[in-house]
Amino acid sequence: MSTPPPGKLGLPELAAMKRRGEKIVMVTAYDAPGARFAEDAGIDILLVGDTAAMVVLGHESTTVPVTVDEMLFLTRTVARAARRPIIVGDMPFGSYQVSDEDAVRNAVRFVKEGGADVVKLEGAGTSVSRARAIVAAGIPVMGHIGLTPQSATMLGGFKTQGRTAERALELVEEALELERAGCFSIVLEAVPSAVAARITELLEIPTFGIGAGVGCDGQVLVYHDLLGLTEGHLPRFVKRYANLSAEIKGALTDYAEEVRSGAFPDEEHSYSMDAGELAEFEAALQSRPALRE
Ligand code: KIV
Repeated sequence: MSTPPPGKLGLPELAAMKRRGEKIVMVTAYDAPGARFAEDAGIDILLVGDTAAMVVLGHESTTVPVTVDEMLFLTRTVARAARRPIIVGDMPFGSYQVSDEDAVRNAVRFVKEGGADVVKLEGAGTSVSRARAIVAAGIPVMGHIGLTPQSATMLGGFKTQGRTAERALELVEEALELERAGCFSIVLEAVPSAVAARITELLEIPTFGIGAGVGCDGQVLVYHDLLGLTEGHLPRFVKRYANLSAEIKGALTDYAEEVRSGAFPDEEHSYSMDAGELAEFEAALQSRPALRE
């Protein structure tokens, strides 16, 4: 990889934050305003997540349909708007499952065309070899284990993972394998807090929890969930810090009412014209009666 631009948070700093016990903050981002708001709020990492399928593109309860080209469009938009935060391009389903070569080819697209600093992929198993290949190509990789939405069908739905001792041990093994493959961090999704805390202790690289308790090195939430833009059922792990959907709908309702009643636009939101110019304009119109023929 090339040298990060000045001001960009470096990956070694993330590892140093873990060692110092400083929490790392990640949020998803899908557009330029969101990226700017997050940067202004001091967020460390922007994940252009494949949750875009649901929260931006309108697919119901699945991240699977989003394509590489759609993800590249969103990643480019976020990367253009943010300076300091690390930009994570989330590799969608189908972009790394087929082979190591395919995974590297698509990861390169995320960096070259999308402007991502790093990529994220889900799972262990074959994903360990994909992660190793991408890292060998010079692109840093964030792992993601526990509830991995791209394989939700195989997992029996959007269910908490690692609730039995056996499955918890498997998660430990998966995390260690991904670390050995060269991942610079790992997302732990919907994993009991005690299991996530033990994984975090065992790893040298930082962990990011989403529904994995306070023992992780950092946290990640979906932008639309934490801001109250997502409607309907939300997972237990989501904390809402605002209720923007109500605010937006209120504003749109007021706008529609004012347009229909003629209250908008008023003088304050309209442009005036010099009286002399207006009179000249009217006179010119009168002198051309055939204007509409
Ligand atoms: O796509 C995404 O937003 C994610 C987070 C839920 C971690 O993978």
